[in-house]
Amino acid sequence: MKKIAVLTSGGDAPGMNAAIRGVVRSALKSGLEVFGIYEGYYGLYHDKIKPLDRYSVSDIINRGGTILGSARFPEFKNPEIRAKCADILRSHNIDALVVIGGDGSYMGAKLLTEEHGIQCIGIPGTIDNDVAGTDYTIGYQTALETAVEAVDRLRDTSSSHQRISILEIMGRHCSDLTIAAGIAGGAEYIVPSEMEFNREELIRKIERCIAKGKRHAIICITEMICDVNQLAREIESRVHKETRATVLGHVQRGGSPCAFDRILGSRMGAYAVDLLLAGKGGYCVGIQNEHLVHHDIIDAINNMQREFKKGLLELAERLE
Ligand code: F6P
Repeated sequence: MKKIAVLTSGGDAPGMNAAIRGVVRSALKSGLEVFGIYEGYYGLYHDKIKPLDRYSVSDIINRGGTILGSARFPEFKNPEIRAKCADILRSHNIDALVVIGGDGSYMGAKLLTEEHGIQCIGIPGTIDNDVAGTDYTIGYQTALETAVEAVDRLRDTSSSHQRISILEIMGRHCSDLTIAAGIAGGAEYIVPSEMEFNREELIRKIERCIAKGKRHAIICITEMICDVNQLAREIESRVHKETRATVLGHVQRGGSPCAFDRILGSRMGAYAVDLLLAGKGGYCVGIQNEHLVHHDIIDAINNMQREFKKGLLELAERLE
């Protein structure tokens, strides 16, 4: 193996640049040539490939987003599209690829390895922390800090106005961000997507707290559970307290990565190169109990379930 490529795929996450830098610098040190593929699998399909040197990744470790750009490209599920992508890689004599993204990007990497002999390694880069086989994904800790800051700011204004504030937090179908931000921000109510949402119970809980003299409250809720503006209207009409909803949205995805994500990205990038140097492909990188690990991608996707952080939710309830 002489030439490898790196791409970022799916939703961007703070720390992806550190991972790109980790791949590029460690690969160059081992005598490999490195190429950057711009705009994920979409860019691969359109041959947006350029060589990277050590200076291509200077001054990026502190930058949010991804210098390579990212895209969602569901067409990559099509075998003919993958075959064309493999041809493009071969036309550059690239025989290995590092894919930084969520587990949606992993299956494509596995198929490129199995169908076309391109050795691929997946690195978990997403704010959602929803990838199996790793305790943390790159970007999660930074997004958590952003969400906690939002809770703190909402607390200032909702306590000043004696309001109820609902904060909708991203995470797709994973509530790690919501639960952790709720605990760190001292939210009164946490609504995760992993459990059935009981509106009535939430409203009755708020009523009980108001009866006890509570004057304001924060509700952290994972995205895609309900229309939070409609929920705010319902709570306001039932408990007779002004209620406002805030959707944190893509604000959560931006910003300079925290030290944890920079270090995690750097470590995982270098580890992915080690795996390729050892001739391994079709694996995804993880960090478990502080140690870097790798798993077969199929095993990670099909057999390793991420555990729902029920204990943390119970802790939040104890601290109400
Ligand atoms: O996967 C990261 C994420 O930010 C999710 O939290 C969210 O559901 C989704 O991406 C949003 O996707 P898009 O950037 O396409 O709006």
